[in-house]
Amino acid sequence: MEAYLSEWLSLLVRWFHVIAGVAWIGASFYFVWLDNHLREPPDWKKQKGIKGDLWAIHGGGFYEVAKYKLGPEQMPKELHWFKWEAYATWLSGMLLLFVVYYMGSPGYLIDLSKAQLSSGAAIAIGLGSLLGVMVIYEALIRSPLSANGKAFGLVLFAILVVVSWGLFQVFSGRGAYIHVGAVIGTIMVANVFLGIIPAQRALVNAVANNEEPGERVAKLAALAKLRSTHNNYLTLPVIFIMISNHYPLLYSHPHGWAVLAAIGFITAYARHYFNLRHQDVNKPSILVIAAALTVALIWAIAPSPPASSTADSGQAAVTDSTVNALLESHCIACHAAEPSHPAFQAAPAGIALDDLSLLAQHRDKVRQSAVNSHYMPLGNTTGMTEEERAQLGRWLDASR
Ligand code: HEC
Repeated sequence: MEAYLSEWLSLLVRWFHVIAGVAWIGASFYFVWLDNHLREPPDWKKQKGIKGDLWAIHGGGFYEVAKYKLGPEQMPKELHWFKWEAYATWLSGMLLLFVVYYMGSPGYLIDLSKAQLSSGAAIAIGLGSLLGVMVIYEALIRSPLSANGKAFGLVLFAILVVVSWGLFQVFSGRGAYIHVGAVIGTIMVANVFLGIIPAQRALVNAVANNEEPGERVAKLAALAKLRSTHNNYLTLPVIFIMISNHYPLLYSHPHGWAVLAAIGFITAYARHYFNLRHQDVNKPSILVIAAALTVALIWAIAPSPPASSTADSGQAAVTDSTVNALLESHCIACHAAEPSHPAFQAAPAGIALDDLSLLAQHRDKVRQSAVNSHYMPLGNTTGMTEEERAQLGRWLDASR
């Protein structure tokens, strides 16, 4: 019953998290698009303090949008804020981190072959990394470095690569990936909470008090814009990480942290193309380079052909009963129609292996996760040996 209810909890939190994330990213992409498309307004608008405007058509109607240089002359009666999308995404994401990684099956986070972490130590490292990187980012954005966009981007990228490498040394690949995602998400929500919203509050206060927004307010607003630009470049990498848990081929790679760094770079670079294009600068070379880098990555991490298929003439065939025993000791507790493992209510990933015909059916995925990589058994809590993996591989090959 407990496993059943915790599956529901995980489902509901995940669902909510995705919905909130869609709302946050949707609003954020829209406003970046808006900002980049603003063009010089007619004189009568300029006199009102409007610095750019645009026209759009959507859902069967025309929209006219205008952006003020700082504030309008008078406070509008109703002013819409965009912040709960961000807060709800982060809060539900943290809850999901607890439900799945901190309180769920330890194998998602802890890999005993990398570090013998207690679950308390793992949680401390995880939460510590979120807080630590956020504090470093906040220090950097308040430093003179923030005046140089490219240098800032490079430093931030280097920090994230180091974090990715470090987490990869102590956590399972999947746990490391999700924590890098959470680190980035935390920087992004801190940008909203600690920078963008306070700047907007200062601006709104000035307008409400009929004051000319002074230099301090203008500076805050410029810094808020920079934070929002950073968030924009971080969005695609973070979305990739959030779906990466379906792809053990990436995070179970021995250099999974470097794979993540490569994908992070490629996706942020691809985003740059769209940001330029919104401003009428068309540089398709960026997309071509991003695609070429992706192909290079696919080539670079391709699995080498398994040793067994090259020189297996001398190897004894693996009997069904050997493989049955192997599944029994390493897989069946979880991968059964009715798992005995307390953390699972149904066969994980829909893969039940109670029967050898089922094993043959899932041949390719099993090879990828338990022979080519060490993703399975989860966290290797059962201590599956290399010899056993090779045996499983040979049986899978023979079953073709
Ligand atoms: C402690 C529980 C547990 C054990 C033991 C375990 N698995 Fe898994 N397995 C899981 C979970 C949980 C998932 C889903 C992971 C995910 O969502 O990425 C999974 C996913 C898989 C997948 C699908 C991977 C994919 O690409 O979607 C395969 C194949 C698999 N396991 C095979 C095995 C084999 C073979 C063994 C034994 C050698 C094994 N597992 C042992 C929990 C376990």
